[in-house]
Parts: sequence; C-alpha cells; structure tokens
Amino acid sequence: MNQHKGWILVTGGCGFIGSHTVARLRQANYAVVVIDNLSSGKLANLAQWRQDPWVKIVIADISDGLIVPFARSQVAGDQLKGIIHLAAQVSVVSSLQNPLDDGRNNYQGTLQVLEFARFYQVPRVVMASSCAVYGDVTQLPVAESTATRPISPYGTNKLCGEHLFGCYQRVHGVSCMPLRFFNVYGPRQDPSNPYSGVISIFMQRCRDQQPLTIYGDGEQTRDFIYVADVADALAVALLERTELVEPLNLGTGVEITINQLAQQILQQAASQQAISHQRSRHGDIRRMVADTCQLHQQLQWRSQTDLATGLQATWQWFEQSNC
Ligand code: UD1
Repeated sequence: MNQHKGWILVTGGCGFIGSHTVARLRQANYAVVVIDNLSSGKLANLAQWRQDPWVKIVIADISDGLIVPFARSQVAGDQLKGIIHLAAQVSVVSSLQNPLDDGRNNYQGTLQVLEFARFYQVPRVVMASSCAVYGDVTQLPVAESTATRPISPYGTNKLCGEHLFGCYQRVHGVSCMPLRFFNVYGPRQDPSNPYSGVISIFMQRCRDQQPLTIYGDGEQTRDFIYVADVADALAVALLERTELVEPLNLGTGVEITINQLAQQILQQAASQQAISHQRSRHGDIRRMVADTCQLHQQLQWRSQTDLATGLQATWQWFEQSNC
C-alpha cells in the first residue's frame, strides 16, 4: 500500500493493548509510529509489521521526553494526526511497592506526551486512564460523575494524568480525551509476573497444569473488556468523536467475581486444577463495574465481545503460545 491516511503516534505500541491498537489503525490505513521502552512490551508483538513501511518503531522511554526519539523516527517532517498514549506502568501492586517508579512512568510520562503534543501542535491525544481512579465505591455500576478517591499510587497517578489532560486542553488548546479502562484481557497479555492481569495468569496456570491462586475470598468483582474492543474504542475516540474531551468509562457493564471467573476459565480450559486462597492484596478494589451509559451515548460505541467469546479466543492463543 503506497498511501495512508496520516501518521499516528502510539506510545507503548509494542505492548499488549498497544499492539492491538497498531493492528486496528493499520486496518483503517493509518500509518503508525511507536515509541516504547520495551519494559513490558516486546518487538515480537509487532512482528507481522516488520516489513511494513508504515509502521516505525523507536525504542525510548517517554518519561525522558518524546521530541528526541520522535526525531529518530524518520517521520518528524510530517504532521501527526494524533497520539494514543498507552505507555504506562500497569500494576496496582507494583505502584504500592515502587510509587516513585509509578509516578515517573504514569505522571511524568503523561506530562512528556502532552508537552510533545503542544510542541508539535498535535490535533488530538487519547490516553489510557483507569477505573482505579475511583477507588472503593459505594454505588455500582460506577458512573463518570462518581467522586474519584484512588486507593493506590497507580490510581492517583492516572487521575493526575487526567487532570493534566484537562489542563492542556484549557490552557494550550490540545484536544485531549482520557478513557477509563476497566480490566482489559486478551491474546498477547503477558502472564510472566505475579502482577500481570488475572486472566493471563489463570490461563497460563491452567495450560501449565498448576493450581490457581485467588487473593482474598474471591468475591471481589471486575468488569473485563476484550482487547480488540479497547483498540476499536481508542481509534473511534481519536478519529471520529474528536469533540469529546471529558473522561469516559471503557467497560462492558458486566460484573463478575474472581471466583466465577476462575470457574469459567477452568471450564474453558477443560481443566480441574485446584484453587487456593491467599491474603487479599493491599489496594485491591472490592467491587468494580462500569456504568456504560455515557460510553454508549457520547462515544456512540459499545463493546462487541462477550466474556465467553473473549475467553475462548484468549485460551486458543495461550494454547499456541509458549509465554
Ligand atoms: C487491572 C490492571 C490495571 C487497570 C485496572 C482497571 C493489570 C496488571 N492491571 O488492575 O492496569 O487499570 O485493572 O481495573 O492488568 N487476582 C487473583 N489471583 C491472581 C491475580 C489476581 O485473585 O493470580 C485478583 C486480584 O487480587 C484482583 C483481581 O484478581 O482482585 C484483578 O487483578 P488484576 O488482574 O491484577 O487487575 P487489577 O488490580 O484490577
């Protein structure tokens, strides 16, 4: 393909969500520049675009600034159409153990993205925020109007990132939109450390015939959204609903306990692995499910993949991969 519709910068594009986002943008014939420090992302996640002239990858840490790495991308002469900012430290538990690292990645990194957007006059920036900004809530499903009271440095830094977005919007006219991701899962989610997403860990354990561990009584709940749906919502927020600037929940509206999730995964994997319980984690939110009214009304978007279908696709990928 010789032509494309313009360049989009994806920070964290070698990661789990990032690589699906690159796929979605290429499908729509946008060209993509990725900046990634490979701290959790992998070049292998973008292997299918190795020969593609419209996917450029620069290895750099966004918290040190984007202007210099972008200059290395050979795209710097072209006006960017937009930025999807996904590079982040994603673990709530790690943020409690290393809050300064979390601040550097999730707060300073976001500030660097916005400084870059201001410098290059990038017309639109969409960012991965998190439902962790709400903390423990009393009313469910949680609506965007709910008071934000994060209970981890991770949630706090994501909230600060949202405020930075609002500030750059008001002061510098950068069109910015945070999406509050609920729990994202799907192929390429890396299960390699204890703080990885729960679905990836449970699936790896089933595949490797090891018991599952549930932290606490397992009655905590989450709203799991499939990664291809997240990539699609990001593209729509960046390219189609450019008038939207306030944070929106990006979830499915379906609440499931971790106990139920474990059973569903055991069933999907046709596994009879034992389940053990350990002490619950600090900073672990008790119940979480998205109110998706604003998502439907404003973004005019809803998730397409139900949990059973998404778990099936994810399990197929885990069976074939050796991660
Ligand atoms: C996750 C994301 C975070 C995102 C947030 C939105 C990851 C690593 N973190 O945090 O980036 O912003 O969702 O809600 O994807 N659990 C077990 N056993 C395990 C692993 C986890 O019982 O082996 C439990 C946890 O205690 C927790 C639940 O499963 O109650 C979900 O944990 P996890 O997948 O780590 O996600 P969050 O902490 O919700």
